[in-house]
Amino acid sequence: MAAKAVANVGILTGGGDCPGLNAVIRAVVKTAVGEYGWRVIGIEDGFDGLLEQDKVCPLGIDDVRGILPRGGTILGTANHGNPFARCAQRNGETVIYDASDEVLNAIKDLRLDALVVVGGDGTLGAAKDLADLGAPIVGVPKTIDNDISATDVTFGFDTALVTATEAIDKLHTTAESHHRVMIVEVMGRNAGWIALHAGIAGGADVILIPELPFDINSVCEKIRERDRTGRKFSIIVAAEGAAPRGGQPVYQDKGDALRQSHLGGIGNAVARQIAELCGAEARCTVLGHLQRGGSPTPFDRILGTRFGVAAVRAVAEGNLGVMVALRGAQITTVTLADAVRQTKRVDTDGELVRTAKGLGVVLG
Ligand code: F6P
Repeated sequence: MAAKAVANVGILTGGGDCPGLNAVIRAVVKTAVGEYGWRVIGIEDGFDGLLEQDKVCPLGIDDVRGILPRGGTILGTANHGNPFARCAQRNGETVIYDASDEVLNAIKDLRLDALVVVGGDGTLGAAKDLADLGAPIVGVPKTIDNDISATDVTFGFDTALVTATEAIDKLHTTAESHHRVMIVEVMGRNAGWIALHAGIAGGADVILIPELPFDINSVCEKIRERDRTGRKFSIIVAAEGAAPRGGQPVYQDKGDALRQSHLGGIGNAVARQIAELCGAEARCTVLGHLQRGGSPTPFDRILGTRFGVAAVRAVAEGNLGVMVALRGAQITTVTLADAVRQTKRVDTDGELVRTAKGLGVVLG
């Protein structure tokens, strides 16, 4: 079947921001406008932009000049913007309602032939459901967590690793000077990719990931063993989703009807236990949203750019209801259904875990 003629393409970014989003926006605009002569409509603040006034604007080549090195997203984002569970105030009460019809109507009203949705699993899940209802969507995966299984890597991850690794390097010198145990808590939700990669890159002694529940006694034994052999400091990298064997992850808040609860606090909990059980001075640094900021690395700029160009090519081919993905060295497309089927978590018997263990790193 021949691809339908394209005149207008929308683009939005949803969910938590990450470095590389502007590279995607720039690539979509430059290719769609420059190569195909289409009109690009920028939609602000995720799906909210399709539901509220004054949140859409044409994006031309001039609008994307100079944004490649910038973190964040020039379009803004929202991580409570699921159109199937939208929040509103009615008669002083918060109500949750399905606004998917309004989104579909907005796509028609704006005469969008395709909508490029850049997001993580939540945004892409909503994109899939909208595509099932007939919306002409191409997804682009993003997240520092690297937890989308249909792509080998997401952009944002590499920049977050640089931030986390630099932090571990800096904490090494102060840990050594003070003979302390330094714990670095990193993001990643229920996947340990940031912790495992940054832990190996930063030479951590202990790496705690959600996929491998840990025993605090093994952690303490590692600290004592290092102490006995003259290494009076230790570095621990803890993923925010890590949990003790038989225990639960630590949350900062309970969440609400719209938002999942936020992980956070395991690093300080581990520090307290180490002080108590080993008598060591332990300090925790929570890197938090620092990991989502900053200028994207060359890898993330290139991957975001490749994804953006590939998304436009998919639209040109009439290949809709898909997400662009990196498989090996190639950019390809997968169906949105496959894209959101499962979260990618660390393989506990995999080569990376075995590499860490080969170095003597305690993981569980
Ligand atoms: O998914 C990206 C991420 O940064 C996670 O690593 C983290 O758990 C979460 O988002 C934090 O969300 P928020 O920005 O709402 O605090």
